[in-house]
Amino acid sequence: MLYFGVDYYPEHWPEERWPEDARLMAEAGFNVVRLAEFAWSRMEPEEGRYDLGWLDRAIAGLAEQGMKVVLGTPTASPPPWLMTQHPEAFLVRSSGQRVTYGNRRNYSPTDQAYREHSARIVETMARHYADHPAVIGWQIDNEFGDRDYDAPAFRRWLKERFGTLDAINERWGTAFWSHVYTDWDQIPVPLSTGGVPNPGLALDFFRFCSDAYVEYQRLQIDILRKHCPEHFITHNFMGFRYELIDYFDLSADLDFVSWDNYPRGFWNIAAEVEPSTMALGHDTMRGLKGINFWVMEQQAGAGGWDVVSVMPKPGELRLWAYQAIAHGADGIVFFRWRTARHGTEQYWHGLLEHDGRPGRRYHEIKRMGQEIARVGQKIEGSSVKARVALVLSYDARFALQIQPHNPGFSYPEQFQALYHALHARNLAVDVVAPNADLSRYDLVVVPSLYVLTPETAEHLERFVEAGGTLLVTPRTGVKDDANAVVERPLPGLLARLCGVIVEDYDSLPAGKSNTLEYPGVEGAAGSAWCDILTPRGAEVVAHYGEDHYAGQAAITMNAFGRGKALYLGTLGNDALNEALVARLLELAGLEAAPRQAAGIEVSERWLGDIALVFVLNHTESEQAVTLAAGVHHDLLADRQVEGRVRLAPRELLILQAGEPT
Ligand code: GAL
Repeated sequence: MLYFGVDYYPEHWPEERWPEDARLMAEAGFNVVRLAEFAWSRMEPEEGRYDLGWLDRAIAGLAEQGMKVVLGTPTASPPPWLMTQHPEAFLVRSSGQRVTYGNRRNYSPTDQAYREHSARIVETMARHYADHPAVIGWQIDNEFGDRDYDAPAFRRWLKERFGTLDAINERWGTAFWSHVYTDWDQIPVPLSTGGVPNPGLALDFFRFCSDAYVEYQRLQIDILRKHCPEHFITHNFMGFRYELIDYFDLSADLDFVSWDNYPRGFWNIAAEVEPSTMALGHDTMRGLKGINFWVMEQQAGAGGWDVVSVMPKPGELRLWAYQAIAHGADGIVFFRWRTARHGTEQYWHGLLEHDGRPGRRYHEIKRMGQEIARVGQKIEGSSVKARVALVLSYDARFALQIQPHNPGFSYPEQFQALYHALHARNLAVDVVAPNADLSRYDLVVVPSLYVLTPETAEHLERFVEAGGTLLVTPRTGVKDDANAVVERPLPGLLARLCGVIVEDYDSLPAGKSNTLEYPGVEGAAGSAWCDILTPRGAEVVAHYGEDHYAGQAAITMNAFGRGKALYLGTLGNDALNEALVARLLELAGLEAAPRQAAGIEVSERWLGDIALVFVLNHTESEQAVTLAAGVHHDLLADRQVEGRVRLAPRELLILQAGEPT
């Protein structure tokens, strides 16, 4: 089933309004509603006194209109009575300051009292709704994130993992600056006020923070699984851009991943939304578990807390929702139903206006609801098939947060730029963990695998040996698992596979780049970082064109087993990334779909051998689109198309090979 629905806060509105809301939702074609994820103080107004009557009545009204319900556990925003009783349960920020009441996401996931209160409210809800016919699943908490600078919990985590202080001193190399710890209580947390921390300590601290939320989520999952074995359990993630939790770990215990997609969520987002940015969000979320996902919050209007974001243009809300489906979403839930009258999010616009009127945005989504009612069944059960993978390492990402190297060197931006070059060729891409099974891919791109373990190095060697094509980029293999620099030439454990060593490197000043002499390619250049390479068996693909290392190798390619490993020593500009992608596709024997105009995205879902081809026009003008050979059934318009078709601005096609049936 394709789920299509909305996030709803009945507790914000008079009960007399609820039937009208439910009627309008049903008319929009919604079949699912998410409820309750910020309603703790309504469900437990004082300690131990529960009131779920209002929620029962809200669910009943929605169920009467044929809708199913996903319940959020309300722990992202505790009631004031709880936090007044347990001031120690407030999170500590990187400044060392404990937060106070007034916002949300303000609790410490390791605080014992908070965990007990969380367990009680979750258990109360789980018991109450276990057999409710309208309830189908749970969302745990809301957008886990943050780092809790809680020293005692960090020390407990260290003790469990490493056992002795000797092991820790050795691991972090505490002889440096005389930081040798002789008592657990001496171990600090890396506060932002403390300067550049010991990299070993800081990486372990970031891992601890990530584990703390994974573990807190598990506390809730265990309760829900026990009482509600028939229900699914998910959490709403924050896409690719979010980087404080290892999302592979956070997704492991869930049935599937959901995420919150706000392409125009913030005022400072450029007027032009970049389709590959949203696409990377979807592909990352699908990649966490390698299965389809939901968008639990899909933008429904302009965002805004204090400042108001650019308004989504006509057709964008629908287009973005279809883009999510094209990348593997099986559920689209719009945030939020009606724009709030009170609270921080007064200007975070919903489908209905403040006054409750269904306006332009509601009608756009209602149109989509009617379409989903017609074509949803044909999409059901289909999934994305990719031959290309991008490897995402949270260890590398965390470690590069600690030592970013150069203001122009950003792990996520580099990742996004490489993804963008693949996306421009309309290639399906899976975003996978460093140790994921790579056997189903022909091409694997590994941006800056800064922290590298022997297992991952072997794993990548096996992939290439068996015939795969691999690209690695600068600052790969620099650190071991403890975030210590390796004692071998870079790229460390991958030097053999890449047939190259990094002789030296240059961190470039802002605004400076180095041109690349890359035969057949115009305008290629690198910025921020230049590895100067000495081949050890590899052939040179491109040289640097400037500075004292002009003429030295910048890109190399090594034959290894039946495959090829390419080393890129710099952060490429668009021309370089594009040329590299073309070369990689050739090497990997991959054929990209027909070239389309910029802003035309083509993405496929497969049901067995049957492809559903989504063609999306993200531009503001009509575009001519070249279809693959043969006759296609345009599912939305229920007509036959072939050859070249014209696509209106922000419009889309969903095509199935063959004639309409
Ligand atoms: C999301 C969050 C929602 C709401 C929305 C708009 O990140 O999950 O609860 O706050 O943003 O700000």
